[in-house]
Amino acid sequence: MKRGSESVSFIGLGYVGLCTAAVLASRGMKIIGVDIDGEKIAKLAKGETPLHEPGLGSMLKSAVKNRRIQFTTDIDRVVEADVTFITVGTPSNQDGSISLTFVKKAAEDVGSAIRGADAYHLVVVKSTVIPGTTTGLVRPVLESSSGKPCGPKLGLCSNPEFLAEGSAITNTLHPDKIVIGANDEKSGDKLVKLYQRIYRARKIPTIITNPTTAETIKYASNAFLATRVSTINTIANICQRLPSGDVETVAKAIGLDPRIGSVYLKAGPGYGGSCFHKDLQAFIAFSRGLDYDPVLLTAVEEVNRRQANEIVKLSRKLLGTLENRRIAVLGLAFKKDTDDVREAASLRVIEELVNNSASVSAYDPMAIENARKVLPQQVELATDSRSCLKGAECCILMTEWDEFRQLKPRAFKTLMRTPNIVDARRIRRQGDFQGFNYLAVGLGATMPPIPVLAAPSK
Ligand code: UDX
Repeated sequence: MKRGSESVSFIGLGYVGLCTAAVLASRGMKIIGVDIDGEKIAKLAKGETPLHEPGLGSMLKSAVKNRRIQFTTDIDRVVEADVTFITVGTPSNQDGSISLTFVKKAAEDVGSAIRGADAYHLVVVKSTVIPGTTTGLVRPVLESSSGKPCGPKLGLCSNPEFLAEGSAITNTLHPDKIVIGANDEKSGDKLVKLYQRIYRARKIPTIITNPTTAETIKYASNAFLATRVSTINTIANICQRLPSGDVETVAKAIGLDPRIGSVYLKAGPGYGGSCFHKDLQAFIAFSRGLDYDPVLLTAVEEVNRRQANEIVKLSRKLLGTLENRRIAVLGLAFKKDTDDVREAASLRVIEELVNNSASVSAYDPMAIENARKVLPQQVELATDSRSCLKGAECCILMTEWDEFRQLKPRAFKTLMRTPNIVDARRIRRQGDFQGFNYLAVGLGATMPPIPVLAAPSK
């Protein structure tokens, strides 16, 4: 790649690397995207997107077409860039702690690639890493493999991301903050300038601190958000046990208090996704290593794990027993508008249903293929909501897809064997379902006694 305009390389083209690279390319920067997966690189080079994220496909296509972005498996090409972002994965170890193997390898490889180069190179750790990693691991590895100390020729920053799936491009274009953990002033200035070129006149609140504090901010953010979800789910479970309790009204009211705020107060089946559980587990393991047991965070995770049982309990309340009952699960993705089922509450709910010998059919508009790889074989995967509902004695609304909000009550009534609805996301109103038994998370209900129907003959 020709020198002259600023160029940036990314090591690791997962979700974070790709979305950030695409946005930087759209702002006129020259990007080199590196990944060890040759198949992925070949796809990307053709302008094809390996993951589902609104806006990413068109951005990548035009960047490839304009040659603003080049993809390669050759990590030595990072020497052509001025700045390298490390965006490799940080998977979990068996005990929940994170594995830094890929981060370490990336640091080693960047160092080797820039070893003979004379130009200043800034390395930015964007992967989610436990506090202390940039200073305690990346820095010594990088210094040793590059043969130069951090300082005049080598810069180093931590720069966590806060992207949510489904809105990663919008989040990158309009961040609520930028967090920079600078190893020294020159490194911090260089990264601030890079972001100024992206956001131009817009003043994005920028926190400049040391790398360890920056890394902690990422975990604190996810710990706090997950805590809110488990807190509102706890309140929901209490409301549910009150004859006329309603968590939605409670959330609306408390959300008006500016000290609380209204977001992340939606009760549901428990959080899923690739970050909350993984990051909480990593943060818990890390804290224990510091001789501090973060009991609050352990409880947040425990509440989340148990929330699936709360949903299953609602269906048991409607059906009496789950054995041989036909249950339709609408929604498998961990939230709407994604095909991701990682840590999805649907998986925990289905596991519990299957353990109780229920017969489960499931449908998702986008996540069927991913779900197929992880669900027990006996779960029937339907091709649409109607066939999923056919013959069901209870329907659990698991993911808040618009499609499920719009399904006509008549469809439920005509297709289902018995009209029992469990709304795990509060996407429908009780009033929609006249003549149904409708139970919802966080909604107290005085149920008429449900006759226990005979199990369908097989
Ligand atoms: C999250 C963080 O938002 C993001 O900043 C971080 O970088 C990665 O983790 P993501 O996993 O994409 O992003 O999803 P998010 O939209 O935050 O939702 C996480 C889970 O919490 C979902 O299962 C969602 O359904 C659930 N949730 C969220 C609730 O149950 N109630 C809420 O009020 C909000």
